[in-house]
Amino acid sequence: MTENPTMKRALVTGAAGGLGREIATQLAARGCAIGLADIDQKGSAETARLCHELGAMTEMFVGDFTTEGAPESAIDRLKTVWGGLDILVNNAGYGVIEPFLDMTYKSWHRTLSLNTMTLALACSAAGRVMKEQRSGRIVNITSPASRMALPDYAAYAASKAGVDSITRAAAAALAPYGVLVNSLAPGMMDTDMQRSTEIDLARVNGRSDIQAFLDERTRRVPLGRRAEISEVAGAVVWLCLDAPIYMTAERLNMSGGMDKD
Ligand SMILES: NC(=O)c1ccc[n+]([C@@H]2O[C@H](COP(=O)([O-])OP(=O)(O)OC[C@H]3O[C@@H](n4cnc5c(N)ncnc54)[C@H](O)[C@@H]3O)[C@@H](O)[C@H]2O)c1
Repeated sequence: MTENPTMKRALVTGAAGGLGREIATQLAARGCAIGLADIDQKGSAETARLCHELGAMTEMFVGDFTTEGAPESAIDRLKTVWGGLDILVNNAGYGVIEPFLDMTYKSWHRTLSLNTMTLALACSAAGRVMKEQRSGRIVNITSPASRMALPDYAAYAASKAGVDSITRAAAAALAPYGVLVNSLAPGMMDTDMQRSTEIDLARVNGRSDIQAFLDERTRRVPLGRRAEISEVAGAVVWLCLDAPIYMTAERLNMSGGMDKD
């Protein structure tokens, strides 16, 4: 059971690095207990260590979160050890550059399994716990890509359009129980995933001048720079802990003006 009745109990997926690690540590700094789910054992252990340094209790779920039953069993385990779940952040994500005319079953399957299907199943499993509690907040990480025509990144864009749809469905399903479901669309952040995606994008566009290619993309952001991981995580934490309780089914854009509606 929870040691401190005011402590929020959170599960952050994809917490081994990038945005997920920053969300986990910022939630830990705000006094939350942190469940970490990621396929990367070493990165997860490092995030857990950082959370412990901030005084947080942690539970780690290392493995492929798309495996049948994985989201449900992680959430059941947190309910058993901490007595419930107050926050779910569906942050784990995968994407691969693949020209539209060369698309493969493998990349569509991997992308939609994680970004869309597993996210939906996690919302449902967390929703069951939060319904009983009559409280809880879910934040899904979407992307500006969900509303763009991206012929070399179609599976990813479609998977994030699915996230937007699931966010609205989950918000409607859980609103009667006081459970809030929102999403956040980050702009370009220099994480491992983003860097390797953009290098691949340069390659399929026949570009070898990687830095010039990256600079051109940065200049397309109306605010003229890429997002800091910490500022995006700060907005996720705001949705998890501080946003008004009348706010649900909302999409918060943190994209420096790339996403304008
Ligand atoms: N970086 C950006 O510019 C950007 C922009 C918009 C949206 N996003 C979204 O932000 C989220 C975080 O992305 P990031 O940039 O920090 O990427 P990242 O690659 O650093 O983090 C993704 C995490 O998900 C984990 N993961 C991947 N497959 C998994 C699986 N099958 N099971 C469990 N864990 C798995 C990875 O190990 C990794 O720790 C993603 O949903 C991504 O789509 C990122």
